[in-house]
Amino acid sequence: EDIPLELHKVRMVQKLYLVPIERRLEAIKDAGFNTFRLSTKDVYLDMLTDSGTNAMSDNQISAMLRADDAYAGSQSFERLQEAVEEVLGKKYLLPVHQGRAAENVISRTFIKPGNVIPMNYHFTTALAHILENGGKVAELLHDEALILHSENPFKGNMDIAKLEACIQENGVENIPFIRMEASTNLIGGQPFSISNLMDVRRVADKYGIMLVLDASLLGENAYLVKQREEQWKENSMADIIKMMTGLADLVYFSARKLSSSRGGGICTNRRDLYSKMEALIPLYEGFLTYGGISVREIEAMTVGLRETLDETMISQSPNFIKYLVETLDKHGVPVVTPPGVLGAHVDAMSFCSHIPQTEYPAGALAAALYLISGIRGMERGTVSSVRDENGDEILADVELLRLAVPRRVFTLSQIKYVVDRVVWLYENREMIGGLRFVYEPPVLRFFMGGLEPT
Ligand code: F0G
Repeated sequence: EDIPLELHKVRMVQKLYLVPIERRLEAIKDAGFNTFRLSTKDVYLDMLTDSGTNAMSDNQISAMLRADDAYAGSQSFERLQEAVEEVLGKKYLLPVHQGRAAENVISRTFIKPGNVIPMNYHFTTALAHILENGGKVAELLHDEALILHSENPFKGNMDIAKLEACIQENGVENIPFIRMEASTNLIGGQPFSISNLMDVRRVADKYGIMLVLDASLLGENAYLVKQREEQWKENSMADIIKMMTGLADLVYFSARKLSSSRGGGICTNRRDLYSKMEALIPLYEGFLTYGGISVREIEAMTVGLRETLDETMISQSPNFIKYLVETLDKHGVPVVTPPGVLGAHVDAMSFCSHIPQTEYPAGALAAALYLISGIRGMERGTVSSVRDENGDEILADVELLRLAVPRRVFTLSQIKYVVDRVVWLYENREMIGGLRFVYEPPVLRFFMGGLEPT
């Protein structure tokens, strides 16, 4: 059997509990059938997200002890700036408390009501901030990107013809920037190729439009470029990452994902762009040398950023995901292929083909899997979508149950437990019923919304 190997050892552990099914039933009812609202006391394998849950290295933890606790001019921040310049190749850095805070600052600075933001695909928080500032998104993936079971190595690529058409249609003056998201999260953690990013850059240059890169999942996108894009096979992670960030005017990231700690940042080599955003940092985040992040976390970010260049480290999660996806696929469970990053993604619309999309198949599947296994996944479908101006549901393009595999957290036997339970549920899928909202928050409803069986 082709199994992934752990190239690290466990030196600190946290006890897990596998509570009985009766307790799990109570817990999921109390949580409004929304896995975000479960307590980890009731969760065996927490596969909700990799955000802030990747394991940290010995070097990260030890760096946290030398943090320089200064309100202004902290040396910890200076060390972070150096790492950002070294790894991401950008001189100017604005620290923010997490990824969506970067999206807030960028959206407020550059978006005017009526603007359109072309992008490969939206992420929930990026979309929320664009809408909040009166903008709209134009999602320009190739049509094949939404074929869930496929062999297309770069489903995160932008369709260049669609980009040209979008610019022609909306006018350059209404497009403040083009957004590319590394390892396109909501379609199953699917990467874009460097050649595609170069094509996007060419169009951006032709029209004088700024290119913004969401680098939250950049390390894994770079790793998959090395695996899948012929021209980059022999290059180092450092070369590939620098190449990608070099093509963007503005790079932002959630450090909760990129470097396995907390925080986030916006970086650029353009002083003019930096200056436009600068004033918003003290207003919303904190002083310019900490941006709402604890200095200890800044030290962990700094080390984590450099570790992103270590192929042994960065390959761990994609290799475990590959094993999980390929094993589920062999058992006939509908999953997104090729295996992407962040987690395995189950195609809930096929899995629960008896549940109409208006009854949230991915949400229903997430709740059912928790009930029968104690595994907590995340709904990435219509529950995570929004309503239009008339209050009607915008049905998601894809209904996915995401089973996140944070870096260096789970063992292979735990992954095998996941396979066993998902396969069992697939064989008994007709037991799963649909859901409807009983409590629906107006913004980012999936976080705290409550549902009940239909
Ligand atoms: N961009 C991408 C591509 C993300 O995946 C996330 C977060 C963000 C921006 C926002 O960053 O959470 O630090 O504010 N993704 C997490 C997830 C929440 O579970 O996929 P944040």
